[in-house]
Amino acid sequence: MGCNQTSTNEQRKEAPTTTNNADKNETNKKATPNTNTEKSVYDSLGGESAIGAVVDSFYTKVLASEIVKSYFENIDMVSQSAKLRNFVCFATGGPNRYEGRDMREAHAKMHLEEKHFDEIVNLLVATLKEFKVSEELIGKVAEKLLPLKDDILNR
Ligand code: HEM
Repeated sequence: MGCNQTSTNEQRKEAPTTTNNADKNETNKKATPNTNTEKSVYDSLGGESAIGAVVDSFYTKVLASEIVKSYFENIDMVSQSAKLRNFVCFATGGPNRYEGRDMREAHAKMHLEEKHFDEIVNLLVATLKEFKVSEELIGKVAEKLLPLKDDILNR
């Protein structure tokens, strides 16, 4: 199971290193009758199943990338895909089902460099384009992920 529509505000936890007030406002909108016309990035992407499909396709690219594939050699990609799907669902304003480590801790011992982070973001953007996600929405997804850079690069 990943994130779905059943969570409530009470069940939501603070997400590791991704929350800001804008995100909270977005997620809060979902739990009350929605009189607001602005959709969360999560909803605009098509919710959990669409995000799951993007993440699976993204990981195929990750495993083929000369720049980053070595990092994922001994990783269980089924479990990793589920974690990333839940994380992206949450980070884009969907329900919070993410129970993994925070971004600094998860990547601390990997000694990652800028080129690795850029490659991951580029592969995700390429995947979103393949899924016909608009440039505007891709920009909004990137806005959610780019602030994680310093944590992921442990600096
Ligand atoms: C926007 C960028 C990134 C996001 C949102 C992201 C997200 C995540 C998440 C949610 C996890 C699961 C944490 C856990 O196991 O509890 C994870 C683990 C992992 N990430 Fe990333 N990540 C990013 C960048 C990178 C980069 C640049 C690399 C390496 C090239 C990388 C390699 C890994 C590996 C190997 C794991 C598995 C760690 C383990 O199981 O011990 N990630 N990432």
